[in-house]
Amino acid sequence: MNSTNNLPLSRLALSSKSSPIREMANLASQYEGDDLVSLAIGEPDFTTPSHIIEAAANAAKGGATHYTQNAGFLELREAISQKMLSENKAIFDPVSEIVVTNGAMQALCFALLATVDPGSEVLFPTPCWPNYFSQVQLAGGKSILVKLPQSNGFQLDSDLLIKSITKDTAAIVLNSPNNPTGVVYNRKAINEVVTAAADNNAYVIADDVYEGLIYEGDADSIVSYVDHPENILVVNSCSKKYAMTGWRLGWLAGNKDIIAAATKLHQSTTSSASSVSQMAALEAITGDQVPINAMKKEFQSRRDYVVNRIEKMQSVSCPKPNGAIYAFLDVGSLDGSDSDIAKRLLMDYGVVTVPGSGFEAEGSFLRISTATSIEQLKLGLDRIEQMLENELN
Ligand SMILES: Cc1ncc(COP(=O)(O)O)c(C=O)c1O
Repeated sequence: MNSTNNLPLSRLALSSKSSPIREMANLASQYEGDDLVSLAIGEPDFTTPSHIIEAAANAAKGGATHYTQNAGFLELREAISQKMLSENKAIFDPVSEIVVTNGAMQALCFALLATVDPGSEVLFPTPCWPNYFSQVQLAGGKSILVKLPQSNGFQLDSDLLIKSITKDTAAIVLNSPNNPTGVVYNRKAINEVVTAAADNNAYVIADDVYEGLIYEGDADSIVSYVDHPENILVVNSCSKKYAMTGWRLGWLAGNKDIIAAATKLHQSTTSSASSVSQMAALEAITGDQVPINAMKKEFQSRRDYVVNRIEKMQSVSCPKPNGAIYAFLDVGSLDGSDSDIAKRLLMDYGVVTVPGSGFEAEGSFLRISTATSIEQLKLGLDRIEQMLENELN
């Protein structure tokens, strides 16, 4: 069936937009077969460590092929609770305060659906990952963007955020380490934002997906920074730290009312996360950490390589990415918008990046992903250097 007809689409379907990250990937796909260097991918290039794959295969062979509890296997929730206690100094009851989800995306969606009413506002310090906005739209809410100034290295500015809180603010979403900048937000500012949100009966949704990839300091979550974390909803997943994007396994931790609501949302959407993926996650969290630490070390070396190269280039810079898998290159010295620059870089030099405007960044930026080999990074950065030389001299 390949013809369209006149049957109506819902308003939601008509108004939903594709992620700007996807748009760049779609454009790049037209150049497939050319000698492209992709610095656009936001997922680890590593295969999931083999002990995790084996644990999942054994679990499936052993009968873990049925529906699980809506909130997920209790054993996995206990492991998550233990991880949050030991790494984040946060106490969440595995029975009533944690729900296992299909990736962080579903945890975010549940958190927003459970807190946002039509007309409610959700605050986002930007630059940020744009996929949040359509989820707010699904919940009937309004995304309010609070532009963090580049002059402060895109650090969290608590004053700016607090000024934007209104009586309609339902939640504030904080993502640290941040996609696209790699910046780790400072504790004092986080504490101030969380306190102001609590004073205004608003939640803080902590998107911790890059929490396991902090290079200066230990794994850390917003929830461990604050004295009274009652209004914090923690979103996390196995995707980035354990190289498990395709397993679609995440979780939401928060107060028991929210978790009960999220568990009911499971009943009306996907029932639960996949049983096999849950068993893989159990092994990821409780099993051998040597291969996991090795991946993190490799990401750190790549980060160091990219930052060093950028420091040596003329007329460009990036805020220091203390975490995640990105460098956010300021290309304001080049002509045109960052979308134009990203297109020129793709078409004339064969390098795929994502323009910063896709993340609502003020200024002109390209997001460079470090989720590829040093050889590919070298090739990509050589070409960017060539473009700078050609266009600036
Ligand atoms: C900031 C941020 N949050 C959430 C996600 C989604 O994570 P998951 O694969 O666990 O759904 C991503 C994926 O790129 C991300 O960058």
